[in-house]
Amino acid sequence: MNSLLPVNVRIVEVGPRDGLQNEKTDIGTAAKIELIDRLSQTGLRTVEATAFVSPKWVPQMADAAEVLAGIRRAPGVAYPVLTPNLQGYERARAAGAGEVAVFTAASEAFNRRNTNAGIDESLERFAPVLERAKADGVKVRGYVSTVLGCPYQGDVPLADVVRVSKALFDMGCFEISLGDTIGIGTPGKARAMLRAVAQEVPMAALAVHFHDTYGQALANILACLEEGVAVVDSAVSGAGGCPYAKGATGNVASEDVVYMLEGLGIHTGVDLAALADTGRWLAGLLGRETSSRAGKALSSR
Ligand code: HMG
Ligand code: MG
Repeated sequence: MNSLLPVNVRIVEVGPRDGLQNEKTDIGTAAKIELIDRLSQTGLRTVEATAFVSPKWVPQMADAAEVLAGIRRAPGVAYPVLTPNLQGYERARAAGAGEVAVFTAASEAFNRRNTNAGIDESLERFAPVLERAKADGVKVRGYVSTVLGCPYQGDVPLADVVRVSKALFDMGCFEISLGDTIGIGTPGKARAMLRAVAQEVPMAALAVHFHDTYGQALANILACLEEGVAVVDSAVSGAGGCPYAKGATGNVASEDVVYMLEGLGIHTGVDLAALADTGRWLAGLLGRETSSRAGKALSSR
């Protein structure tokens, strides 16, 4: 085994949020709750549950409070939720959220479409969220979108990715998730981007978040693991996309990531068979086949 690879990787399961926010089929609140509960039983330690964003912008997440109220919280599992502003944070806390995530982008154009604000304006919105979270003892994750390219702006300078990542970290985010929102990156670019950010933010505080539009996600993840990243975002069944990135497919499938990591001898603590079962169950609810290659292969064995 490559000695540079991490021994343990934490998977941040984003299917219930990133996956479902862009699925046309609404599986309903009860199924969302069942999805999160099933995921909680697979050994995952982080299951991003929902988003307290404006329901006018993302109607799929309008039932965020009901979802959070309905889940059975498993010991040792964190259930972070997206909070774009103080209003979202207050809604999330009222619904019992113990961990939240703020999100902005390295591309000004994308951030305007996604949050109706420039990058610096969004950072200003996060300041009171981080202040309140600190007082409440709530951990805050920071997402940076479009780290390898933007659907509106095209290329995104590395310096912008580094600046925004560092700003979120300096504000108090415990972890920065670097998002290839449109799945456009390739391994060399992913590696260079991570290296550049790691000059300013400790590697232990970085996560990678790949969408799989061009089929590059696993290769990108491997390149980043070799750089030392040990937190990987993924979505069961490869569900989803991004409402503000037309044509972007879902996140890399969690089953495929776990299969690759296990093959590399990296510990995830996740039961792949149980995860794959959940992925096929979700795909059934969405009225299609699972997008996970490992999930498909395991079902035919
Ligand atoms: P805005 O319209 O500029 O907000 O939206 P506003 O402050 O002007 O308020 C307008 C209305 O929205 C008001 O209601 C507010 O109460 C309401 P009205 O008076 O008109 O009835 N409002 C809210 N309602 C509920 N919850 C809230 C909230 N805030 C305001 N939190 C805003 C600004 C940020 C709210 C909006 O643009 C928004 O919700 N955007 C979210 C978009 C989104 O969820 N995108 C997907 C998640 S990010 C992502 O997927 C990328 C990621 O996966 C990483 C990657 O792949 O790159 C993380
Ligand atoms: Mg995403």
